[in-house]
Amino acid sequence: MKLLKKVMAVGLASTMALSMAACSGGSTETTAAETTTAKAEETTAKAEETTAKEAEEAAETTAEEVKEAAGDFDASNVKVGISIYKFDDNFMTLYRNELERYLVEDLGFKAENITIQDGKGDQAEQSNQIDNFITSGVDVLILNLVQASSAPQITDKCNEAGIPVVYINREPDVEEEDRWAAEGIKATYVGCDARQSGTFQGEEILETSNGGDINGDGKISYIMIQGDPENVDAQYRTEFSVKALTDAGKEVEELFMQRGDWDQAKGQQLTQDALTLFGDDVEVVFCNNDAMALGALQAIEAAGRTVNEDIYLVGVDALTEAVQNVLDGKMTGTVFNDHIAQAKSAADIAVQFLQGEDVAPVNMVDYTKVTTENAQEVLDALK
Ligand code: GAL
Repeated sequence: MKLLKKVMAVGLASTMALSMAACSGGSTETTAAETTTAKAEETTAKAEETTAKEAEEAAETTAEEVKEAAGDFDASNVKVGISIYKFDDNFMTLYRNELERYLVEDLGFKAENITIQDGKGDQAEQSNQIDNFITSGVDVLILNLVQASSAPQITDKCNEAGIPVVYINREPDVEEEDRWAAEGIKATYVGCDARQSGTFQGEEILETSNGGDINGDGKISYIMIQGDPENVDAQYRTEFSVKALTDAGKEVEELFMQRGDWDQAKGQQLTQDALTLFGDDVEVVFCNNDAMALGALQAIEAAGRTVNEDIYLVGVDALTEAVQNVLDGKMTGTVFNDHIAQAKSAADIAVQFLQGEDVAPVNMVDYTKVTTENAQEVLDALK
C-alpha cells in the first residue's frame, strides 16, 4: 500500500507536471510576447517549483484521504478477530502482514485491538478460536477458514452473536453465499476467481515458442502438482490451466497428478517422483502455487533438466523468489495473487459492515499474469 501511495503520488506529480507544462506553455507565450526569453524561463522554473510543491501536497492529501477511507468511522476502539488457516503458508503470511499493516497504518485501528490466531490447519482448533473471539466480544471477524465447508455453522454462530464476518482466501460454496444475501446475514467473501489464474497459467504455456510441445509429438504432456484439493483454488487452477490448452485446440496428456497441499517440500518430492517415473516425457509442470513450484524447480534442477529449454514450469502467487526465477528464466511464468488488494478490500469491507452498510456477498480481485516481460515491474512493485 505504501507502494501504491508512492505510485499514486508519482502519477499525480507527473500528471500535474504535464498539465502545468501545458498551462505554463500558454502563459509563457503571452509573457514571452511581452517580455524577454529570460523572463519566460523564470516563469517555467517557478511553474516547476509550484508543480513539485503541489505534487507534494497532493501526495499528502492522498495519504489523508486513505485515512479517511472509513469516513467518520472511528476505528480506535474497534476489536477485530482474525484467524488464518495456518501461519506456516508463504502466501497467507504476506497477506496476513499486509492486512494488519493496512488496518493499523491506513485505517487507524489500534494494534492491541487486533488479535490474529493461527488455525494450524485444524478446523476444530480454529472453530474454538472463533468461539473465543465471539465470547470476548470482538466487533468484526476476518476469517481464512481451514475448511471452507465449515462456513454455514460458523456464519450462524456469528450471526446469532451479531458479529459480521469477512471470509477471505478460501471461498465458501455458492449456496452458502446466496443464503447470506437471501437472509440478510452480515457475511461476505473477498478473494480472487481461481479460474482466471488457471487460465493464465495455460496461456503462459501456449505463449512459449513451441506452445508447450517441446518434443514435437503433437501433444502437451504435463504433470499437475495440486494444492489442498478441498480448496476451490486448487480445483479451479487444475481444471482451467488444462482447459486453456484444450480450448486452444491442443492435445494434452496428463502423466501425473498428486496433492502437494501448497507446500514446497511436497512440491519437490512429487516432482522428483514424477520425473523419475516419466523422465523426458514431462514437458510441462503445472503447480497450483509458487511454493510448490519452488520445490518443483529444485527437483527439475537436480534431475539435470533446464526450464524453458527442455521443460516448462508455472506457478501462482508471485512470491518474490518465484518472480525473480521468472526474470532469470528459471520459471516460465507465475500469476500475481494480489494479497495487497485483497487485504485492502477485506479491511474496507469490514469497516462497511461496522458502519451498517450493505455489502455484496462476493467481492473479487483480479489476478495478473507474470512473464519475463513484466516480471521486473512486478518485482519492483512487491518491494
Ligand atoms: C491460495 C494460494 C496458496 C495458498 C492457499 C491457501 O490462494 O495461492 O499459495 O496460500 O491460497 O488457502
